[in-house]
Amino acid sequence: MKLTGLDGKTALVTGASKGIGKSIAGVLSESGVRVVCCARNESILIEACSEIEKGGGTALPVRADVSSPLDRRQLIERAISEFGGIDFLINNAGIHMEKEAMELSDEELLQAMEVNFFPMFSLSRDVARQMISRGGGKIINIGSYWGQLGVPRQVAYCVSKGAVEAMTRCLAVEWARHNIQVNTVAPGHIMTDISKAAMENEKLRNIILRRIPARRVGEPEEVGYLVAFLCSQQSNYITGHIYYIDGGQLISW
Ligand SMILES: NC(=O)c1ccc[n+]([C@@H]2O[C@H](COP(=O)([O-])OP(=O)(O)OC[C@H]3O[C@@H](n4cnc5c(N)ncnc54)[C@H](OP(=O)(O)O)[C@@H]3O)[C@@H](O)[C@H]2O)c1
Repeated sequence: MKLTGLDGKTALVTGASKGIGKSIAGVLSESGVRVVCCARNESILIEACSEIEKGGGTALPVRADVSSPLDRRQLIERAISEFGGIDFLINNAGIHMEKEAMELSDEELLQAMEVNFFPMFSLSRDVARQMISRGGGKIINIGSYWGQLGVPRQVAYCVSKGAVEAMTRCLAVEWARHNIQVNTVAPGHIMTDISKAAMENEKLRNIILRRIPARRVGEPEEVGYLVAFLCSQQSNYITGHIYYIDGGQLISW
C-alpha cells in the first residue's frame, strides 16, 4: 500500500535543521511534500534544506525562533506566500532543560514552556485558521514519553510535554468538524544531539538500554515514517491521540 494525500502538499516543520525535525522533513519530501523548515541557526538550516533539494525535494529554509511571536507570524506568512497555504503543521522544535525542582526558578519554567509548549499552541491556532479555509489539514505535535512520567530533575521538560498531550486532545475535539486532525507523536530515546551525550557515556548508555525492551535507541527516520502516516489520507479518521515510539519502554514493567 502506498500512502496517499501527500504528493504536492505543503508542510511546515519547526526545528527542522537537525535531528528528528530534519528527518521528518526528509521523509515527507520523499513523498512529494514541499517542506518549509525553520530553526534559529540559519547556516545549519540552509545546509539541511539543500540536502533535501539535492535529493529532488522542495525545501524552503526560514530562520525563525518559535518563541518569538513576530518570527512565528513571518514564518506562516512566508509559507503561504511561497506555496499558497499549509496542509501539514509539524510542531517539533523543542529544548531540553535539566534542573532539580528546588533549584528551578519561575522564569526557567516559563522559558521551557515558551519554547516547548506556547509556540505549539499559537502556531496550531494560526495555521488552523487557514487550514479551515482550505478544507482541512493535519497537525502533528512532537511530545515525549516523559510527558507521562515523573522524571527526577526534569520537571520543566515533563510539564511542557504533558501540556502538549492535553492540548492535542482539546484541539482535536474542537477542530474535528473542520477536517483537521491533531495528533501527538511522543518519542522515547532517539539518536539525536539531545540524546548523544547520554549515549556516549557507557554507564548511562547501559542503564538506558536496559530499560528499553527493544534494546536500542530509535532512529530519527522512524519518527518521520509515523509522522508521514499521520499526514496521509490513510489516517483521516485518527485524531486526538498520542503515539509513543519508544521500543516498548513506556509500557514495560
Ligand atoms: N531525541 C530524543 O531522544 C527525543 C525524545 C523525546 C522527544 N524528543 C523531542 O523531539 C523534538 C526534536 O528533538 P531532537 O532530539 O531532534 O533535538 P535536536 O537534535 O536538538 O534538534 C532540535 C531542533 O529544534 C531547533 N530549535 C530549538 N529551539 C528552537 C527555537 N526556539 N526556535 C526554532 N527552532 C528551534 C534546533 O535548531 P536551532 O538550535 O538552530 O534553533 C533543531 O533544528 C523535541 O521537541 C524533543 O523534545 C526528542
